[in-house]
Formats: sequence, structure tokens, C-alpha cells
Amino acid sequence: MATVNAQTVQGSRTAPAAPATNPGSGIRNHSAGIPFIRQTPNNEGNFMDIVDCILADHDRQRRMFAALDQARGDNDTLGKIFNRLRNFLEAHAEAEELYFYPRLLQLGEGALDSDSAEETTDDAIDDHNKIAEAAEAAKKEKVGSDAWWKCVDKTNLQNSKHMSEEERQGLTDFRRKVPLEERVQLGLKYLAFESHHSGEYEREEKDPEEYIEKNEAA
Ligand SMILES: [Fe+2]
Ligand SMILES: [Fe+2]
Repeated sequence: MATVNAQTVQGSRTAPAAPATNPGSGIRNHSAGIPFIRQTPNNEGNFMDIVDCILADHDRQRRMFAALDQARGDNDTLGKIFNRLRNFLEAHAEAEELYFYPRLLQLGEGALDSDSAEETTDDAIDDHNKIAEAAEAAKKEKVGSDAWWKCVDKTNLQNSKHMSEEERQGLTDFRRKVPLEERVQLGLKYLAFESHHSGEYEREEKDPEEYIEKNEAA
């Protein structure tokens, strides 16, 4: 198990390069109104926990939806990017349901505008189902057609709203309640799952209440 010095870690995002005010402390100061970001490498010199993995995936998803807009008119490119994006969304949601939400249900208490981990999880599983349905509908339309774009835009909107809520509620709660070493270990399992399912992937739709019941009892 990788050993991480939890005392010096507050955030999980990798900080951009900037002069260190206290060299060797791992604390970097951004003077232009950007708050302190602390980062501590693990034994391999890298710091990546499951919260960071999810944020990185979300960034990739936003960029892939943006790329679709840039490829408008090139149906071959649109089809290839959307096919990859759809499989990515499916595997991403499954990985969260396997390694993120079960632990959130056990240790989370809700954050910001969510009153409980159950509320956060219920919304998330329902959102995952809706995103999958919208992407599945696009698959049935001719790539580049108006009907296809309508489904793609719906997928983008559903996913965009979901990521925002997930980052604000679930990721915040997880960062606050789950110890760093466990977050790092879960991140490795999460990445291994996504790596193993980097091609075609179909997630099974889940009933939010059944999912919560099953995982709270686990
Ligand atoms: Fe999610
Ligand atoms: Fe997500």
C-alpha cells in the first residue's frame, strides 16, 4: 500500500507550476488571488486519488463534447468521437458505482446542497441512467443528422448537470470523510477497472433505491 503523508494534504488536484514559497514543504503559493494548493507525492512521486481520477475523467468528457462541436460537418469524425465518448461514459459511471458511491454511502454525510450521502447517491444513479438513455438514443440516429445532434445535446446537458452536482456534493463529501490513503487505493482500483474496459462497454441500468439498499448493507 502506498504511504501518503495525510497531514500535508488538503486538496487533490495537481497544482500548476508556480514558485514555492517554502521549498520542500510541498506547499505552493499562487499570488494572483488563487488560494494555496498543497500537494504531497506518494512513494512513486505521483499523487492521484479516486476524487482526482473522477475530476480528470470529467475534464476529458467536457473536452470530447467540445470536440464534437468542432467536428460538425465531418460525420466520420463525429461518429468515432461519439462512439468512444459513449463507451467512456458507460465505464466511468460503472467505475463510480463500484468504487466511489459504496464508500460514500458508508462514510458520507452530504455536502453543500445535499443533506445526506443517500440523497447524493440517489440523484447520481438516476443521472447515470438518464445519461445512458440519451446516449443510447443517439446511437439509433444517423450520425450528424438533426435528430442525432438533438440526442447528443441532451446527453451533453444531462452529463454536464450531473458532473457539476457530483463534483459539488459527492466529491466534496468524499474528500472530507474518506481518509486519503483509502482514496488513493480506491483510485487504483477505479483506474484498473476503466483500463480493463477501455473499449466497448455497456453498463446495466440500476434502480437507485435498490442500489443504495444493497450497498449500505455491504
Ligand atoms: Fe457520476
Ligand atoms: Fe462522474
